[in-house]
Amino acid sequence: PGKLYQFKLVLLGEAAVGKSSLVLRFVKDQFDDYRESTIGAAFLTQTIHLDDNTTVKFEIWDTAGQERYKSLAPMYYRNANCAVVVYDITQASSLEKAKSWVKELQRQADPNIVIALAGNKTDLSSRRAIEREDAQAYAHDAGLLFFETSAKTAANVNELFTSIARKMPLD
Ligand code: GTP
Ligand code: MG
Repeated sequence: PGKLYQFKLVLLGEAAVGKSSLVLRFVKDQFDDYRESTIGAAFLTQTIHLDDNTTVKFEIWDTAGQERYKSLAPMYYRNANCAVVVYDITQASSLEKAKSWVKELQRQADPNIVIALAGNKTDLSSRRAIEREDAQAYAHDAGLLFFETSAKTAANVNELFTSIARKMPLD
């Protein structure tokens, strides 16, 4: 029959970087060009079959990036097992914001939390403002998983969530 593991996953990052779009791609394999900004947070689940014996179910909290919701974030990351911190490769400020979320998680969240950094919107590479190598070097130093993704084209979206699943303690 195999084993089912459940983990709480939180998404954090500046408004409009594509957190909800990444979740919509992962959970429903859909994309909207006109996605509404999240209010408060949204909850979704998705299951990954790692192999015949191992199923990972993610309980996903997709938080709102707008500044007015900032004080709600600890409610969602406090008991999270894993986090995806998202930035937009076309917005330099969004990587700075992502770094500040990583710092906050490393100080305030569970010490065993698995954190992935996702540089989203790689389909907009003509407007790229953050080099892959720079973000990857930062992620490596900070001990984070790292992927560049596109919720629009689906590039690397399943890879991102699968690599988190593989990093979780499965025993
Ligand atoms: P908040 O809920 O306000 O924190 O924003 P968010 O991070 O959830 O962003 P959201 O997913 O709502 O996406 C914001 C905008 O970026 C929307 O217009 C999306 O269609 C667009 N978007 C998201 N991901 C991508 C992507 O990979 N490529 C492109 N071109 N646009 C994207
Ligand atoms: Mg959102």
